[in-house]
Amino acid sequence: MVTVKVEKAKIDQKQTSLLAIGLFEGDLDFTQSKELDPTVFASIKETLENKEFRGTFGSSILIYTLGKGPMKKIMLVGLGKRDKFTDEGARLCAGKAAQKAKELGVKEFSILQFSTLDEGLVEAMVEGVILALYCFDRYKESKESPAKVEEVTILINSDSPKFQSVADKAALVVDTVNFARDIGNLPPNDCPPAQMSSLALSLAQEYGMKARVIDRYEMENMGMAGIVAVGKGSNNPPKLIILEYSGISDPAQKPYLLVGKAVTFDTGGISIKPGEKMDEMKFDKCGGCTVLAVMRAVASMKLAVNVVGIIPSVENMPSSTSYRPGDIIRMYNGKTVEVLNTDAEGRMILADALAYGIATYSPKAVIDIATLTGAAIIALGANVAALVGTNKQLTDRLRKLAEKTGEKMWELPLYDEFYEQIKSTFADIKNIGGRPGGAITAAAFLSNFVNGLPWVHIDIAGVAWTQDGTHEKSYNPKGATGFGVRTLVKLLMEEEKQPN
Ligand code: BES
Ligand code: ZN
Ligand code: ZN
Repeated sequence: MVTVKVEKAKIDQKQTSLLAIGLFEGDLDFTQSKELDPTVFASIKETLENKEFRGTFGSSILIYTLGKGPMKKIMLVGLGKRDKFTDEGARLCAGKAAQKAKELGVKEFSILQFSTLDEGLVEAMVEGVILALYCFDRYKESKESPAKVEEVTILINSDSPKFQSVADKAALVVDTVNFARDIGNLPPNDCPPAQMSSLALSLAQEYGMKARVIDRYEMENMGMAGIVAVGKGSNNPPKLIILEYSGISDPAQKPYLLVGKAVTFDTGGISIKPGEKMDEMKFDKCGGCTVLAVMRAVASMKLAVNVVGIIPSVENMPSSTSYRPGDIIRMYNGKTVEVLNTDAEGRMILADALAYGIATYSPKAVIDIATLTGAAIIALGANVAALVGTNKQLTDRLRKLAEKTGEKMWELPLYDEFYEQIKSTFADIKNIGGRPGGAITAAAFLSNFVNGLPWVHIDIAGVAWTQDGTHEKSYNPKGATGFGVRTLVKLLMEEEKQPN
């Protein structure tokens, strides 16, 4: 794991193998340039005058200092136009610097603060660095880059200790994003539902949370027929994972309920998916991974909030014991569902988890996160998650936070008309609503199980991993992205400050 330090330093004194300096387009001056060795300064000046580097967003160039100065190399990083520079820009450019440093094989490097110092800038730069250095290589016998970056220093023009604590908190959160990525990236043979549950149990033990795993037979007895039905086709039995974090002992403080879909592999079941890209359905557990990671972050920060995380985990397989199209299932809350497509399994397991969580914990608000529909990708592409909910305040809060975190989210409307598409001839509702508005009819289905509570559903089908149509980001290496962790943690941190 990489450590990030924040230091007030003059750049002419910083012993480092690589110093990254961000420069704005059309504004290629940097305040601390005078502190550099004159020869190094002249070399940079020439690079700029020759227009080999223009400060274009995301560009970079290396300059060797040839022993003139305490740093071995300098990397100029283009920050784009100054008036367009945001925290997301800082995250991407810091990620870019880290990516290049990794390619160069350095064990340590430094970055000069990109723009005017504030907490948001430090947070974004730390996030960009740690997220970009993530690497899932535990299955590679020959490692691509044997030398790993171990230490990064952000050089700032203040010695206030608050910036180190901002950096530490940011590091803690993105380390949990990387934890979510680690589980998300696990191959389906090494991560059946039982593995999800043992990961959750060890997490709970490490961070002092209450944990419970409900197994298949208990679920049958309790009436969680949706989860049982989907899990029936696999030899790897389903698990319902429950984590409770209590940061306030006041019993009047109702918890937030987070529910995450963890289908460890989605073949589609009897309504089997085409073979192409089916391997990507190992990422169908990413909603559950996000919830696990959020619980870990909240517990390790000891936030003064109460949160319950529920993760229904199943493997959706075709076999002689699978649930079938035509089956009618009586769900945990008593509503009946006609199964018309076994590939719409996510909503079946979320429905039981939501209804159970609500009945058991009477939460103040409910958020579920799931790789639920291909239709969410059709609606919003592979870079924006869909928000659908019954509570404008909660949806707006998430959308606004998402603007800051760079985890883009956009709301789709849950109008009454959509409920007509999921009416069933033989049961209360059916589990598919046809192609039109598929991401919304899936949410309409779920809303049957939230008992009128404030609720938002986040469909991360397009953004949970890098896929066709993903816009490349320096801080998102290939594979699971850990999408949603940073935004949900921010929501709960905000809640801690101003409980309502
Ligand atoms: N896990 C998939 C959704 C998905 C598909 C996520 C592609 C990411 C990429 C989900 O279980 C599913 O198969 N949904 C079906 C629903 C349909 C049968 C109503 C879908 O989207 O096709
Ligand atoms: Zn499916
Ligand atoms: Zn699925």
